[in-house]
Amino acid sequence: MAEWIQICDAEAIPPGHAARVEIGDLPIAVFNVNGDFHCLDDTCSHAMASLSEGELHPKECAIECPLHGSQFDLRTGEPISFPAVEPVRVHQVELREGELWVALSDEDL
Ligand code: FES
Repeated sequence: MAEWIQICDAEAIPPGHAARVEIGDLPIAVFNVNGDFHCLDDTCSHAMASLSEGELHPKECAIECPLHGSQFDLRTGEPISFPAVEPVRVHQVELREGELWVALSDEDL
Protein backbone atom coordinates (compact mmCIF):
# COMPACT_ATOMS: atom_id res chain seq x y z
CA MET A 1 0.00 0.00 0.00
CA ALA A 2 1.29 3.45 -0.93
CA GLU A 3 2.70 5.58 1.82
CA TRP A 4 1.17 9.07 2.14
CA ILE A 5 3.65 11.92 2.47
CA GLN A 6 2.78 15.45 3.58
CA ILE A 7 4.33 17.90 1.12
CA CYS A 8 3.14 21.48 1.74
CA ASP A 9 0.41 23.90 2.68
CA ALA A 10 -2.16 23.94 -0.15
CA GLU A 11 -2.16 27.76 -0.10
CA ALA A 12 1.43 27.63 -1.37
CA ILE A 13 0.03 26.54 -4.77
CA PRO A 14 -2.76 28.91 -5.84
CA PRO A 15 -5.15 28.03 -8.71
CA GLY A 16 -3.35 28.11 -12.06
CA HIS A 17 0.03 27.42 -10.49
CA ALA A 18 2.38 24.49 -10.00
CA ALA A 19 5.17 23.55 -7.62
CA ARG A 20 8.09 21.20 -7.92
CA VAL A 21 8.70 19.06 -4.85
CA GLU A 22 11.51 16.58 -4.33
CA ILE A 23 10.75 13.39 -2.50
CA GLY A 24 14.06 11.70 -1.92
CA ASP A 25 15.68 11.97 -5.36
CA LEU A 26 12.35 12.01 -7.22
CA PRO A 27 11.09 15.40 -8.45
CA ILE A 28 7.31 15.58 -8.66
CA ALA A 29 5.07 18.40 -9.85
CA VAL A 30 1.86 19.42 -8.13
CA PHE A 31 -0.70 21.47 -10.07
CA ASN A 32 -3.73 23.42 -8.91
CA VAL A 33 -6.47 23.42 -11.55
CA ASN A 34 -9.30 25.59 -10.25
CA GLY A 35 -8.87 24.19 -6.76
CA ASP A 36 -8.37 20.56 -7.84
CA PHE A 37 -4.87 19.25 -7.25
CA HIS A 38 -3.02 16.89 -9.60
CA CYS A 39 0.42 15.36 -9.28
CA LEU A 40 2.78 13.97 -11.94
CA ASP A 41 6.44 13.15 -12.21
CA ASP A 42 8.07 16.52 -12.84
CA THR A 43 10.39 15.24 -15.55
CA CYS A 44 8.95 15.24 -19.07
CA SER A 45 9.02 11.82 -20.72
CA HIS A 46 10.51 13.34 -23.88
CA ALA A 47 13.72 15.12 -22.94
CA MET A 48 13.97 15.81 -19.22
CA ALA A 49 12.35 19.26 -18.98
CA SER A 50 10.62 20.26 -15.75
CA LEU A 51 6.85 20.11 -16.27
CA SER A 52 6.18 22.34 -13.25
CA GLU A 53 7.75 25.17 -15.29
CA GLY A 54 5.31 24.63 -18.15
CA GLU A 55 2.09 26.40 -19.00
CA LEU A 56 -1.04 25.09 -17.34
CA HIS A 57 -4.18 24.72 -19.49
CA PRO A 58 -7.03 24.47 -16.97
CA LYS A 59 -9.77 23.93 -19.55
CA GLU A 60 -8.03 20.86 -20.95
CA CYS A 61 -6.67 19.87 -17.52
CA ALA A 62 -3.25 19.69 -19.17
CA ILE A 63 0.30 20.88 -18.69
CA GLU A 64 2.39 22.04 -21.66
CA CYS A 65 6.05 21.13 -21.49
CA PRO A 66 8.19 24.28 -21.54
CA LEU A 67 10.83 22.76 -23.83
CA HIS A 68 9.08 21.33 -26.91
CA GLY A 69 5.42 21.96 -26.17
CA SER A 70 3.94 18.48 -25.67
CA GLN A 71 0.83 18.60 -23.54
CA PHE A 72 0.09 15.96 -20.92
CA ASP A 73 -3.31 15.18 -19.44
CA LEU A 74 -2.97 15.79 -15.70
CA ARG A 75 -5.54 13.08 -14.91
CA THR A 76 -3.82 10.28 -16.79
CA GLY A 77 -0.26 11.45 -17.51
CA GLU A 78 -0.78 10.60 -21.19
CA PRO A 79 0.72 12.91 -23.81
CA ILE A 80 -1.97 14.55 -25.91
CA SER A 81 0.37 16.20 -28.40
CA PHE A 82 3.78 15.49 -29.93
CA PRO A 83 6.72 15.18 -29.70
CA ALA A 84 6.31 13.19 -26.44
CA VAL A 85 4.80 9.73 -26.94
CA GLU A 86 5.40 8.16 -23.52
CA PRO A 87 3.24 9.03 -20.50
CA VAL A 88 4.51 10.44 -17.24
CA ARG A 89 3.46 8.81 -13.98
CA VAL A 90 0.49 10.14 -12.05
CA HIS A 91 0.65 10.21 -8.26
CA GLN A 92 -2.29 10.40 -5.89
CA VAL A 93 -2.73 13.73 -4.16
CA GLU A 94 -5.15 14.66 -1.40
CA LEU A 95 -6.05 17.83 0.43
CA ARG A 96 -6.36 17.21 4.17
CA GLU A 97 -7.17 20.14 6.44
CA GLY A 98 -5.32 22.62 4.25
CA GLU A 99 -2.28 20.41 3.70
CA LEU A 100 -1.36 18.49 0.56
CA TRP A 101 -0.41 14.84 0.79
CA VAL A 102 0.85 12.59 -1.99
CA ALA A 103 1.14 8.85 -2.41
CA LEU A 104 3.75 7.97 -5.02
CA SER A 105 2.89 5.57 -7.80
CA ASP A 106 4.89 2.35 -7.66
CA GLU A 107 4.74 1.90 -11.45
CA ASP A 108 8.11 1.39 -13.08
CA LEU A 109 9.22 4.12 -15.42
S1 FES B 1 11.19 17.85 -23.18
FE1 FES B 1 9.05 17.89 -22.96
S2 FES B 1 8.28 17.82 -24.98
FE2 FES B 1 10.44 17.73 -25.22
